[in-house]
Formats: sequence, C-alpha cells, structure tokens
Amino acid sequence: MEATVKNSSSNGEWTVVLPSKGRKGRKGRRRKPKPNDQEEEEKPWRSDDLEVNPQRQARLKQKMEISMKKIESSKFYTAFLEQLKSPEVSNQFRLVLGSETQLQMVMYGIGSIESYESPRYQLSIAILMKREFDWVGNNIEVFDPVLSVTESSVLESLGCNVLSVNEQARREALKPTLFFMPHCEANLYSNLLQANWRMDCLSKIALFGNSFQMYEEQVSLAPEVIRATKRIIAARRITSEFPIETVSEDYFAAFHDSSWHFFSSAIDSELPLLVSEEF
Ligand SMILES: C[S@@+](CC[C@H](N)C(=O)[O-])C[C@H]1O[C@@H](n2cnc3c(N)ncnc32)[C@H](O)[C@@H]1O
Repeated sequence: MEATVKNSSSNGEWTVVLPSKGRKGRKGRRRKPKPNDQEEEEKPWRSDDLEVNPQRQARLKQKMEISMKKIESSKFYTAFLEQLKSPEVSNQFRLVLGSETQLQMVMYGIGSIESYESPRYQLSIAILMKREFDWVGNNIEVFDPVLSVTESSVLESLGCNVLSVNEQARREALKPTLFFMPHCEANLYSNLLQANWRMDCLSKIALFGNSFQMYEEQVSLAPEVIRATKRIIAARRITSEFPIETVSEDYFAAFHDSSWHFFSSAIDSELPLLVSEEF
C-alpha cells in the first residue's frame, strides 16, 4: 500500500491518505526487480471503458475548448506565464534543456478529463504551455489508468500520445523531460526520483507536481507514509522549488500546493547518502 498526500477540497488542508489498490489481473511483462511492492509492475494497459461514442467525444472536445478558453483569459494564466518567463524559472528550464532545443513532456496522473473540471484545467495549462513555448516538444505523452477510450481519443486529437504501458512513473530522463504530474500520489513522485537517482538524469528533469516542501512539512510518522515520501524528502536538499500561485478560487482545486521542481548541485556519490542518512 502506498501513501499519498491529498488536499481536502473543502478546507484546503493536506492529509495523508492511503489509496485503493491498483488494477489487478492483467497479463504483465516480466517485472523489473523492485523490493516490497507487488502492485507496482510496469505493464501493458488497456482502458476499462471501451465505449466508442461520437457524442461523448464531441461533448468532451467542447468541454476542453471551454476550459482552455477560460484558462487562457484568466489572471491565473497570466501569473503562470509570468512565473515561467521570470529569470529564476526560465533559467532553470535553460539548465534542464542544456544543449537540446526541446523538452519532452510526459504527463502522469491527469485523472478523468470527462468527469472532472480540475483535470481539464490541468490538461489545458499543459497544452497552452506547449503552444506558448517552442522549447516544449509537440508530442505530449500521457498516461493515467483511469482514462477511457473516449478520453484517449480526445487527448490524441489535442496532440497527445496516450501510452499503452503503465510505466509507474519510472521513466528515465535520458533526454530533457518535463514531467507534468498534477496532484499525483506520493509513490509516483518517489518512483520517478528512484528511477532517475543520478545527477545526469535528475538534471534533465523539470517536474510539475505536489510541493515537495509540503510533503516535508506535512509528513506523519506512519511507516507507510515515511516509505512513500522518504525519497521526496531526501530530494529536497537538491531541489529548487517554485510554487504555483492559484490566484483565484476557480483554480484552487486544480493547482493548490503545486510547484515546479528542478534538481541540481549534488554530485552522484552524495545521492544514495541523501536517502540512507535520514531514514
Ligand atoms: C489524486 S489523483 C489526481 C487526479 C487529477 N490530476 C486531479 O488533480 O484531480 C491521482 C491520479 O493518478 C493516477 N495514477 C495512479 N497510478 C498511476 C500511474 N501508474 N501512472 C499514471 N497515473 C497514475 C490515478 O488514476 C489518478 O487519476
């Protein structure tokens, strides 16, 4: 079982909760060795909701257009862009890019864009970002096990490539990569860090997701919570974090306690110590 830090939408408080168990019963590839976790195989994935319904697709496309228009004309988006263009943050992206011209965007945990507004706002901001900045690669790779066939087809029509393998967020950043992981469970950030726990990988990552600082401030002593968050907390020492300003109540649910994260200024030989020293 993995811990997640979630926000209760009514009062904005962070609580650590335990998510339900993942999907079972699919035939998987041979798993990569990973201690203590039977639930986290990387495996081929097929949606549970296979209905192909043109009306559903059209309605969802319309909802996405409304969401993107609303965000684009919002003060929230103006602030979001200002932050990205600020010297501090744009310099971090420049460092991640290195000698490359584009960042590959990988989106994990977007949630159901058909059922909820927050995932639509989150997807909107990612697509608008791709349109705004030529250093964001065109082809956004997306994975969330809850996506329906309808949602996948609309994502594809918006220029995304829906992955057919559940990577468990263990993608190695062999090239500059923007991981867009809005309000994911702690174990996914932890998996991502673990898979990239070398400076040549970490330095190629820009991560949008739950604030690592919040994880450090809110973590409890429950063993499963410590297990899910220890690498996040260890990474804090090499993380530059830039919080997202939600600006108005409209965008609170989708973007509260979210930050940009960049990793630097450690040498490889220090990285394992970051984990073992503290826990
Ligand atoms: C707390 S929800 C956040 C949903 C949405 N981003 C939001 O803010 O409302 C976490 C999401 O992560 C997804 N998720 C769980 N395991 C995942 C995996 N291995 N790869 C990608 N997404 C995953 C869940 O299905 C869920 O939609």
